[in-house]
Order: sequence, then structure tokens, then C-alpha cells
Amino acid sequence: MSGAPYLTGRTRLAGIMGWPVGHSLSPRLHGHWLRRHGIDGAYVPLAAPPDRLEQALRALPALGFRGCNLTIPHKEAALAAVDRATPLARRIGAINTVVVEPDDTLSGDNTDGFGFLASLADGCPTWQAEAGPAVLLGAGGAARAVTVALLDAGVPEVRLLNRTPERARKLAAELDGPVAAVPWAERATALDGATLLVNTTSLGMAGQPPLVLSLDALPRSALVTDVVYTPLITPLLAVARAHGNPVVDGLGMLLHQARPGFRAWFGVDPVVDDELRAAVLAATGS
Ligand SMILES: NC(=O)c1ccc[n+]([C@@H]2O[C@H](COP(=O)([O-])OP(=O)(O)OC[C@H]3O[C@@H](n4cnc5c(N)ncnc54)[C@H](OP(=O)(O)O)[C@@H]3O)[C@@H](O)[C@H]2O)c1
Repeated sequence: MSGAPYLTGRTRLAGIMGWPVGHSLSPRLHGHWLRRHGIDGAYVPLAAPPDRLEQALRALPALGFRGCNLTIPHKEAALAAVDRATPLARRIGAINTVVVEPDDTLSGDNTDGFGFLASLADGCPTWQAEAGPAVLLGAGGAARAVTVALLDAGVPEVRLLNRTPERARKLAAELDGPVAAVPWAERATALDGATLLVNTTSLGMAGQPPLVLSLDALPRSALVTDVVYTPLITPLLAVARAHGNPVVDGLGMLLHQARPGFRAWFGVDPVVDDELRAAVLAATGS
């Protein structure tokens, strides 16, 4: 018989907290791993409105949850609500993973940057962080995690471009390292000599306008990646492919960022493979 497993009194519990949360692919992703590994566990959507976030987080130990992931709009506010957070999460200014400790306190971490780098390692193993400058479009939550990850990985220069220039300037000033804010209008010329181009804006996402950008100045060997994964091949990635550049889609980041939480809650380090990608993509209709 297929379908949802029976839960027992020993079922390990985790979930994804967001508002709204119905769009999240994480229950499908963790559900696939739970079945694959035969774990008596459940990963559930937890719809928590912003004004009840702290209350919802504090209820996790009382309800027997081992932790949760956080999604829009909770990642920043949750950092302030947990008992401790990793230095990495503090630099990023947001958490996406909470673990309930044996003494019922809450520990926060941010695994988005880990997911991003693991996805590049999977999708383009020849890309090397130290090889040259990265151009990063956007200055929102995803941009913060990706920029910190790139700096920690040894990228020698990050060029940050955002429609609202103050946000890029603020992010560049906050992060200790070779990050420079470049005007949005200069996004085509900023590609000169880059070895990596990352879109972290929501442009190109289904229902949003496409990212319009000439790749003429971008070296053909540069890796192009998008954090948007609906559609899987965004207009930017389609243009990059046609230009001859290697591309990595945004789904791998979503899948890999989930690994540390799953390991902490359910005790298994799960793998990201084609079967998982297919299971998650089936939910997006892609
Ligand atoms: N693959 C993954 O695992 C993963 C993880 C996290 C996020 N994401 C995706 O990443 C995207 C961004 O998420 P986020 O959390 O960083 O959102 P966010 O904090 O709201 O930031 C949105 C970014 O998009 C820019 N933007 C929005 N509309 C624009 C437009 N019309 N023209 C130019 N720039 C525009 C914003 O620029 P302004 O500052 O000028 O508004 C800002 O830089 C979303 O599509 C999200 O689904 C994917």
C-alpha cells in the first residue's frame, strides 16, 4: 500500500515554518528521504504568522519536535528568537535551520551557503572559487548567504549589483572582505573577466519578469547559476547555455541546504541524486 506512513508514538518530528508555507517543497524533499531510509519520522508544514513566530519556535520542544527549517518571512526574525546561533548565521543575519537541543534550548544555523556551494560542486566540479571574480545580482536574503559562502570559499573579488543600490552598498560594507557594490546599470560590463555569475534576484522566476542581461562581456568559461528553480532553466540560464557557458540550476541549492537539518533531526546524512530531483520536480510540475 502506498501513501502516507502510519505515525507512531516514537515518530521523530521536524518541519518547515513559514507564512504562508503551502508552496514549500521541503515536506516533499524530506518525505522522500524519510521513505528512502525507512525512518519512523515525519516532516510537516508549520504555518506560523510573523507575530507568533517566537511562540511557535518555543513550542517545538514542548511538542517533541527535533527542530525545523525556516522560510519566508521568518529567516531574519528567527535568528533573534533562538538561544544561540553559529557565527556563520550571525554574519549572514538569518537562520534557516533550528535544532532542539537535549536541554530543550534552540540552536540556529544557516545552511543556504553550504547548499549553494555543494550544488556548484555537484553541477560543475571544475569551477574553482579562487580562479577569479564573481558577479552576484541581488542583495536580499539569498544574496547574503551566497556572498558569505563565496568569500569563505576563497573567491578573490565579489561584484554586487542590486536594483536598489543602497542594499548592495550596505551588504558590501557589512561583510568583511573583497566585496564591491557596482551600479545595477553596469551589470553587462561588470561581467568582464568574471569566472562566476550568480542570479539571486527573483527575476526569471515563474510569474516574474525575466532577467535581461547581455552576456557578451562574460568569458565563455564562466559558470552561470541561478538560485531561482521554478522554472528549472530560467531565461538567464537558457541564454548562458546558448552563449556556450556551463550552467547550474537552482534546485541543487534547495536540496543540499536540507542535508544538515535532516542529519541533525533524523540521524542520517542523506544523498542528493537524480531520484530526489525527480521526486521534488514532480511537485513543481516541471
Ligand atoms: N535555490 C534555493 O535554495 C533558494 C534559496 C533562497 C532563495 N531562493 C530564491 O531566490 C530568490 C530571491 O530570494 P530572497 O529570499 O533573496 O528574496 P528577497 O530578500 O526578497 O530579495 C529579492 C531580490 O530580488 C531583487 N528584485 C526583485 N524584483 C526585481 C526587479 N523587478 N528588478 C531587479 N531586481 C529585483 C531585489 O532587489 P531590490 O533590493 O531592489 O528590491 C532583491 O535583490 C527567490 O526567487 C527565491 O525563491 C532560492
